[in-house]
Amino acid sequence: MTRPPARVLSGIQPSGQLHLGNYFGAIAQHIALQARYPGACFYFIADYHALTTVRDPEALRANVRDVAITYLALGLDPDKALLFRQSDVPEVTELAWMIACVTGMGLLERAHSYKDKIAKGIRPSVGLFTYPVLMAADILAYDATLVPVGKDQVQHVEMTQDMATHFNEAFAAPKDAPYLVRPEVLLSPTPYVPGIDGQKMSKSYDNTIPIFAEGKALRKRIGRIVTDSTPLGEPLPADRCNVFALLSLFLDEDERADLRRTYAAGARDGAPFGYGHAKKMLAERIEAHFAAARRRRAALKADPARVEAVLARSAERARAVARATLERCRRATGIR
Ligand code: ADP
Ligand code: TRP
Repeated sequence: MTRPPARVLSGIQPSGQLHLGNYFGAIAQHIALQARYPGACFYFIADYHALTTVRDPEALRANVRDVAITYLALGLDPDKALLFRQSDVPEVTELAWMIACVTGMGLLERAHSYKDKIAKGIRPSVGLFTYPVLMAADILAYDATLVPVGKDQVQHVEMTQDMATHFNEAFAAPKDAPYLVRPEVLLSPTPYVPGIDGQKMSKSYDNTIPIFAEGKALRKRIGRIVTDSTPLGEPLPADRCNVFALLSLFLDEDERADLRRTYAAGARDGAPFGYGHAKKMLAERIEAHFAAARRRRAALKADPARVEAVLARSAERARAVARATLERCRRATGIR
């Protein structure tokens, strides 16, 4: 079988304010990949997936806009990568139905993220249960070969592989021309960013630092990062410190080694160094790192038509690919 050309695809849910975990765990890698695979990166805002939790139409619309602006501000180049709304490509929901019809209940019942939510006492909707089917359709509609995700999404991509195989087998696809292309996971290089309480940073835990937090609000948030009670001037435990872990994301290797020495000494340039100093450094780093993006964000916010044009143009191109896949699948299944 000839290998299909590389196509990168990922989605992000518009279900809340994006934070440093999303940035280092997902967005930074998405944006970096556009240079390696120019013209072959498809990124979309998963508004249908967000419907499993969001119940406020104005909030959903605002979140979609905010995700789009955030990606563009952080450097997504619409000439190199597509950025579109999931719901602008209705072929995806049609494909989801076809996939659902060849997917066993057992496969979905084994999904960790579903089981975790049930364990937390959430009463599941059918949509929450079939979430991985829609995610498989997202991936398979575009013949994606590489899916950059964090650790928490790996199982969903593996389920997508199974669903593609089931579909191809169920409708007897020729071996050298499968109807649906098997995707591979591209694991994020930063799979774990801690939150201010030391658990995984997540909007569900109210422990995030928003990407564009600044000034007093940012310092207040950083002030709340949990540390131990080592007194000022004593050696600090870098490997157990949430501030160190977060700061490390912004430092190069030399700077990190230098900070490690400072922690071990509990002093810098002869003066005592404590968590307060590290927190101040973190606030400065965050503000400096996102300063240019913050300016681009303000400009984009003032120009909603430009953002809408990117989404519309990308959706048109993505839709052409999804139409071709659906045409294959309709023929294969006997629909039309
Ligand atoms: P949240 O946990 O805030 O709801 P999502 O589940 O919407 O975040 O995650 C969106 C993307 O960001 C996923 O690819 C996920 O792997 C990544 N991500 C989220 N939180 C973190 C984190 N703390 N560390 C690394 N990656 C993360
Ligand atoms: N489920 C993913 C998340 O919560 C978002 C998503 C939806 C996705 N469809 C996708 C990611 C397809 C990769 C590919 O992060």
